[in-house]
Amino acid sequence: MDGNGRWAKRQNRPRFWGHKRGVERVRSTVEGCIDLGVEVLTLFAFSTENWKRPEEEVTFLMGLFVSSLKREVKRLHKNGIRLQVIGDKSKFPDSLQQEIAAAELLTSSNSALTLNIAANYGGRWDITEATRRICREVANGKLDPEALTPELLHQQMCLSDAPDPDLFIRTGGEQRVSNFLLWQMAYCEFYFTELYWPEFDRAALEHAVDSFQQRQRRFGQTGDQLVAP
Ligand code: IPE
Ligand code: MG
Repeated sequence: MDGNGRWAKRQNRPRFWGHKRGVERVRSTVEGCIDLGVEVLTLFAFSTENWKRPEEEVTFLMGLFVSSLKREVKRLHKNGIRLQVIGDKSKFPDSLQQEIAAAELLTSSNSALTLNIAANYGGRWDITEATRRICREVANGKLDPEALTPELLHQQMCLSDAPDPDLFIRTGGEQRVSNFLLWQMAYCEFYFTELYWPEFDRAALEHAVDSFQQRQRRFGQTGDQLVAP
């Protein structure tokens, strides 16, 4: 969800204005995904690198996270959405950690859409944590290093209970991954748009999904193999 700051700046507004409008786009995108039949939506809200931003922006983003969570959780639950927050939550204030745990518990049996919010998340952090757990198992004698497989490592990673992501959408004009779901996106389709996140409306979402649907996914095979009877 990139481009909040630039969108605000273009209108001579402060960056925080853009972040607030960005939250509204989260709501419309979640609704759009349910209508389109998407089962899992993962939004990159705050990266492990975003702490490097000016302190006042970090504080504002944390506050916005808490207030949005408080305001939206009932609506999410009513709409059958299962909410999960992925990332290193231990760095968040206790109050926010409690808010997150309560929201995850309340919505845990919902099935219309799984909404993952990646907060203080980094793909490298995810892989490192998974590796640390594997190392512990080896050190404890519970796992033979020779028995390690990609599947076993995958089970230790965030989103291990979800299918691999099919489509990655980045708004804001940059064409990079910025440490998002590095492991999980091995076969993901990429879609980049110049639109800033606050401009990413329903039509833009549908455009991205249309683009995805026109692609042939070969997963290493040849095109001929896929059309073979
Ligand atoms: C929102 O957009 C993404 C967050 C990390 C909250 P940005 O804040 O990165 O906006 P730009 O890229 O400066 O326009
Ligand atoms: Mg940005």
